[in-house]
Amino acid sequence: MNLTDKVIVITGGGQGLGRAMAVNLANAGAKLALIDLNEEQLQQSVALIEEAGSSARYYLANVTNESDVEQTFSKIAADFGGIDGLINNAGILRDGMFVKAKDGVVGKKMSLEQFQSVIDVNLTGVFLCGREAAVHMIEGNRKGVIINMSSIARGGNMGQTNYAASKAGVVAMTVTWARELGRHGIRVGAIAPGVIRTAMTDAMKPEMRERLEKMKPVGRLGEADEIAHTAKYIFENEFFTGRVVEIDGGLCM
Ligand SMILES: NC(=O)c1ccc[n+]([C@@H]2O[C@H](COP(=O)([O-])OP(=O)(O)OC[C@H]3O[C@@H](n4cnc5c(N)ncnc54)[C@H](O)[C@@H]3O)[C@@H](O)[C@H]2O)c1
Repeated sequence: MNLTDKVIVITGGGQGLGRAMAVNLANAGAKLALIDLNEEQLQQSVALIEEAGSSARYYLANVTNESDVEQTFSKIAADFGGIDGLINNAGILRDGMFVKAKDGVVGKKMSLEQFQSVIDVNLTGVFLCGREAAVHMIEGNRKGVIINMSSIARGGNMGQTNYAASKAGVVAMTVTWARELGRHGIRVGAIAPGVIRTAMTDAMKPEMRERLEKMKPVGRLGEADEIAHTAKYIFENEFFTGRVVEIDGGLCM
């Protein structure tokens, strides 16, 4: 896909990786539709995209709410005249042990609410937004691209039953959609980032951050721009579909 004047939707576009990918794609000539819950952050992302010389609109919507998602994608298609791409990026963490016990006594367990809230955003939200994007791409006769954000945690990680399950599910949906949507000219890929430098990692105790850095063969955390570069690669490489790119500095969990 040549990104010039293509309409790309990014969920969770108000900050972090979503914002970095939005600015990077704007630099390549794409127009952006950003979805998030936080209006102030969305406005800042739009301003950065305009500074990059492209145009953007923002939409306040909760990706877990079916009617919100349906209405938002219809509005985006009407505002821009169609949808060419989607990055399913909105995601949350609610870490905790599956069962926490000491001396044979269980003190704490992961609540259903803690499990379900992560599944709702990271898996159901991806399902709903992916489905609506596909509907508009097919009906608008656009040969689109959908990218789902997974994580290295998808293979299983201590304290992340909910998150790991959601991120593994996202890869399974990626392969399934690639096979189902290929006949419509739609490609689907996933990105599984390792630990990326964000406000959260900057706020960590230095010894904790150093430990994380040492775990990576490249000796440092990833940069948001390196993830954005990967998203751009998936959009542009027409032979890429049904696969997940692991961009993690060589760290295997
Ligand atoms: N940062 C990392 O190191 C890392 C590593 C692996 C995977 N990821 C994945 O990449 C994605 C982005 O990560 P990030 O670090 O930029 O996260 P972030 O927390 O900085 O940003 C996530 C954005 O999603 C939005 N969001 C959350 N719930 C929403 C909902 N229900 N509806 C609409 N918007 C919602 C938030 O408001 C926020 O703006 C996530 O899916 C995350 O799991 C991140």
